[in-house]
Amino acid sequence: MKKKILLLHGPNLNMLGTRETDIYGKSSLEAINKGLTDLAAELGVELNIFQSNHEGELVEAIQGAVGKADVIIINPAAYTHTSVAIPDAISAVKLPTIEVHLSNIYRREEFRRHSMVAAVAIGQISGFGPRSYELALRAAAGI
Ligand code: DQA
Repeated sequence: MKKKILLLHGPNLNMLGTRETDIYGKSSLEAINKGLTDLAAELGVELNIFQSNHEGELVEAIQGAVGKADVIIINPAAYTHTSVAIPDAISAVKLPTIEVHLSNIYRREEFRRHSMVAAVAIGQISGFGPRSYELALRAAAGI
């Protein structure tokens, strides 16, 4: 049985490629997802990807992963710093979860230096641009 990985992208990540390119780079979300889909095939894992600008939809996607995914990879984007509902959902489903950030959240504004999700994640990858996702996918494939 192939390992099933659910990748969740939070708010504004649909604008990658044009959004603050000095921080987030020039790759579009579509290009990042395509690269990850190819890598998933190479690693022999199943990858499902979902992006939402709505906290509740991300919560529903996490709840819906029960029985359908073995590992969650999530870039909660701005909700990283504000959400109680997303870490609560991760705790509720008890699925191993990897937190990802394109930028290094610890060398940016003070309010980005705290992650609400970190305490419920098995690990965090932050600061490697689109490669953060690649590293997370490789880690997820090995769990
Ligand atoms: C981000 C970092 C967050 O602080 C920010 O709100 C984002 C993207 C990242 O991938 O670097 O939208 O999660």
